[in-house]
Amino acid sequence: MKTKKTRTCKKTAAKKAKPWGGRFTEATNELVEKFTASIPYDWRLYPYDIAGSIAHATMLGKKGIIPKKEADRIIRGLEEILQEIVSGTFAFSEELEDIHMNIEQRLIRKIGAVGGKLHTARSRNDQVALDIRMYLRDEITGIHDLLGLLQKVIVGLADKHQDVVMPGYTHLQRAQPVLFGHHLLAYYEMFDRDRDRLEDCFRRVNVMPLGAGALAGTVLPIDRALVARLLGFPSLCENSIDAVSDRDFAIEFTSVCAQIMMHLSRLSEELVIWSTAEFGFITIADAFTTGSSIMPQKKNPDVPELTRGKTGRVYGSLVSLLTIMKGLPLAYNRDMQEDKEPLFDAADTVSLTLSVVTEMLKGITVHRDTMRMAAEDGFITATDLADYLVRKGMPFRRAHEIVGNAVLRATALECGLGTMPLNEYRKLSPLIREDVYDALSLEASVGRRTSYGGTAPANLKKRLQSLKKKMR
Ligand code: ARG
Repeated sequence: MKTKKTRTCKKTAAKKAKPWGGRFTEATNELVEKFTASIPYDWRLYPYDIAGSIAHATMLGKKGIIPKKEADRIIRGLEEILQEIVSGTFAFSEELEDIHMNIEQRLIRKIGAVGGKLHTARSRNDQVALDIRMYLRDEITGIHDLLGLLQKVIVGLADKHQDVVMPGYTHLQRAQPVLFGHHLLAYYEMFDRDRDRLEDCFRRVNVMPLGAGALAGTVLPIDRALVARLLGFPSLCENSIDAVSDRDFAIEFTSVCAQIMMHLSRLSEELVIWSTAEFGFITIADAFTTGSSIMPQKKNPDVPELTRGKTGRVYGSLVSLLTIMKGLPLAYNRDMQEDKEPLFDAADTVSLTLSVVTEMLKGITVHRDTMRMAAEDGFITATDLADYLVRKGMPFRRAHEIVGNAVLRATALECGLGTMPLNEYRKLSPLIREDVYDALSLEASVGRRTSYGGTAPANLKKRLQSLKKKMR
């Protein structure tokens, strides 16, 4: 009775043909199959999985671990499989769990039992670590390039609108006049740091894990350095246990993605505000806005809004990855399969968002007069009045107080600081003379801020020159 049952179950297990089916007597539950499969999303690792396998087979052949002829057959088989996937004729199977087993089983079916030699001295644990690292190298390069394109557009806009003055804000209250170009170049700096972070992250991604086996290394005389050379890795993971259990590099990458999105969302928020009727600083091109299904007059800034929204999604990916890895004992645990969806989603979201924001920025119209009017209004040059008094020898704290009084008086007189009569100023301080009005103009305010990194036109010009040269 028992024997019979075992035999039936073996048959079912055999029918399902699991590459690891040897020690099993029962077929996998269908729900478990669905639950454990990663093929619906990890199929996209195929170019890396195949390139990694080709390098591994080459090494196995070179080291005589498998006959060279067999290694060549394996490599040819893998190259054909690549073509099948690219041309869409490859049939992915959920029963085969993941991309690694899908490709391996296809290889065996294609070239026979010799295909089973590919997995010599290898485990899916080091294989998947390799695939993710190779995938990330490409994603990092791509996002790095996209950031460069965005920076170029920012510099172009700043260059084109070099003399446009706008109110600079703190607490979203008008604070001091600044050049629009100077404001834009603040974003250049943010994206430059993001690129730097990506480059730094790349160094830790670009380390080769294959050869760690399941966790302990292998008894076979493999040559990890050769595999690394073939795949363009400058160094090897030093510890086999770490090699299969480390996902720091994926977390790091996602954290850089989160910061990029944070920067994009700040820019987006400004674009949303600037394009309101209340501000009217810019117009976003029709092609990058959408209408309302009920209010015919509406033109909504959906691209910057969705950029803000998608930022939440990328933060979610970062938290997912951190939480997946938290408390995992060494070495590989199946939990780690859950790293892929957040990782892919973060990379995809950042790439798409960068592309669309860059295109949108190219097409914005800048309303220089509206920006200037906003900068002229009110008491935006109050700091300049204080600085004027400081230049006449008054301590800054005292000057601050007098300017406060001037603002109070001007409010009562319903005028601005630049239009308050001189006799009113003289009541506040005898140091104030006719030349105060020159000091209070927007041009003087901006033009005097020549401290290194300040908003003066001369600074902006110099910075733009060096950035344009750098980006050529
Ligand atoms: N699909 C798996 C993953 O993404 C590959 C590694 C499986 N390893 C294992 N021991 N089951 O993590």
